[in-house]
Amino acid sequence: MIVEFLAQPLTILDHHYQQLKDDGQDVINGLTQKPKTLPAKYFYDDPGSLLFEKICELPEYYPTRTEAWILNQYADEIAEITNCCELIELGSGSSTKTQSLLTAYQKIAGSCRYLPIDVSGGILKTSVLQLQEKYPDITVHGLLGTYEQALAHLQTNYLQSRMLFFLGSSLGNFNHEECDIFLTQVSRTLQLGDFFLLGIDLQKPKEILEPAYNDSQNVTAAFNLNMLSHLNWRFQGNFDINLFKHQAIYNQVDHQIEMHLHCQKSHWVNLEVLDLKVHFAEGESILTEISRKFDLTKMSQQLDSKGLKTIKTWTDEKGWFGLILCQVG
Ligand code: AVI
Repeated sequence: MIVEFLAQPLTILDHHYQQLKDDGQDVINGLTQKPKTLPAKYFYDDPGSLLFEKICELPEYYPTRTEAWILNQYADEIAEITNCCELIELGSGSSTKTQSLLTAYQKIAGSCRYLPIDVSGGILKTSVLQLQEKYPDITVHGLLGTYEQALAHLQTNYLQSRMLFFLGSSLGNFNHEECDIFLTQVSRTLQLGDFFLLGIDLQKPKEILEPAYNDSQNVTAAFNLNMLSHLNWRFQGNFDINLFKHQAIYNQVDHQIEMHLHCQKSHWVNLEVLDLKVHFAEGESILTEISRKFDLTKMSQQLDSKGLKTIKTWTDEKGWFGLILCQVG
């Protein structure tokens, strides 16, 4: 079993595809409630993941490059604090930003293993192969599946210490309850002395936030609309993406971006695999994503309440993005 694990670049977590197939229930629930919603996880089929990579390079979308700057600046310090350990990344995507960390860990003594975890098989496989070539001293092995599956799959009895990391402010796409459940799962997956590195987008004026999610090249619009194309192929649907319009607004009370698809004309949509026929009225919208913006101190307190004690935090010069390193204690 271990030989097979190390010989292959990827492990497909059990029931991954079956689960995605069964998951249509969340689409049914979301589209039959008022206001309509869709789970953000349906952004990430292979075309959606590629669009997200493009978003990360947009001039208006500051989070990726700001976090990359912080990582680049402080990766050596992080590696010095944690020492050699098993590096596990939840939602790794193309692992671009992670390279500063891998470079830092390659410099320190000991044998590190890097396990990127993602739901997009195409991107994961390509990045695992590229990283293995670039970092021969680090064993790279991808896990294809959701965060829940990955956290359940990772053994809780192990010898080498771990650093689990969750970058890019993906935590912001969870609501309060999901966030709480996730952090509980994280702390259960780790043992005393292990580390958790979290990247979060911080609160800032609407004038900076809204353009980041309504970019001038309409890449975010294409990303949002791609969710409907994804549902079309996955559930044999007939969404006409030309009948929907993207809009992102910043809710200043709840400190979150809310991404919508607004219906432009009254019509019906069929999703055959789900046996679902849904009516959309003109002007009606689907909430496809929230992206919460955090307060660094409050987040540290929340982590602390889960037994994850903050060791150090870092931000960029403008204080737009934060990185928190905590340890199970
Ligand atoms: C993945 N996640 C952290 C991104 C965000 O900023 O919330 C997803 C995204 N949605 C639109 N642009 C980027």
